[in-house]
Amino acid sequence: MINLFHVFKYYIPGVSALADLSFRIKKGEFCFITGPSGAGKTTLFKLLFGAESVSDGQILVDGRNLSRIKGRHLALFRRRIGIVFQDFKLIDNQTIFQNIAAALEVKGEPYDIIKKKVSRALFMVGLEKKADKYTRTLSGGEQQRVAVVRAMINDPAIILADEPTGNLDSQHTQKIFNLFKEINLRGATVMLATHNTALFNMVKHKRIIELRDGIKQ
Ligand SMILES: Nc1ncnc2c1ncn2[C@@H]1O[C@H](COP(=O)(O)OP(=O)(O)O)[C@@H](O)[C@H]1O
Ligand SMILES: [Mg+2]
Repeated sequence: MINLFHVFKYYIPGVSALADLSFRIKKGEFCFITGPSGAGKTTLFKLLFGAESVSDGQILVDGRNLSRIKGRHLALFRRRIGIVFQDFKLIDNQTIFQNIAAALEVKGEPYDIIKKKVSRALFMVGLEKKADKYTRTLSGGEQQRVAVVRAMINDPAIILADEPTGNLDSQHTQKIFNLFKEINLRGATVMLATHNTALFNMVKHKRIIELRDGIKQ
């Protein structure tokens, strides 16, 4: 489903954030991307989401070359991906409910279904009582949980989660992993970036890809 062929990324000429990265991830796999800060994890996700383009090499998702997807087609492609950004990227003058519901509204889902789906998901991460709070008033850990729910509410085929439990205690980390595991069981491919190798124990069947200075180990 996700194929990288000799991918290079240079933000600055001569300095590679990713170097000669190749791997293949099958549909339904749960894959950890690990490595210390600066290893290239976030860069990899930016490439997979089409937020940055490769400097060299190719990325195929479902057999389609990402460098050739443009404009409206890129927007449609992104709807199949749920992404949790390292810095959350929530809309801070909207409530938790509004932030999450937006992902369902673009698909034209009826309001009562939206309401039901959002309530259930918020319950799973312990935020059901805060649905009407503005996201700017939330703690870092609460914002992180909202970002995870927003990424998954659409049942995307691919989840990209960048350090999604970095601000959470062990109890909430468990809840977030329950969500990832549930969507993975339904067939979604999950890629989760973390520098915390202790998290590997949260998932039974997994792949682990380790990066260091942009190079696969
Ligand atoms: N926008 C950018 N401009 C220049 N260099 C960048 C940019 N983003 C990331 N880098 C560099 O690319 C390398 C990989 O960074 P990043 O992908 O954020 O790693 P990680 O997520 O594993 O911490 C680092 O050396 C970082 O400084
Ligand atoms: Mg990062």
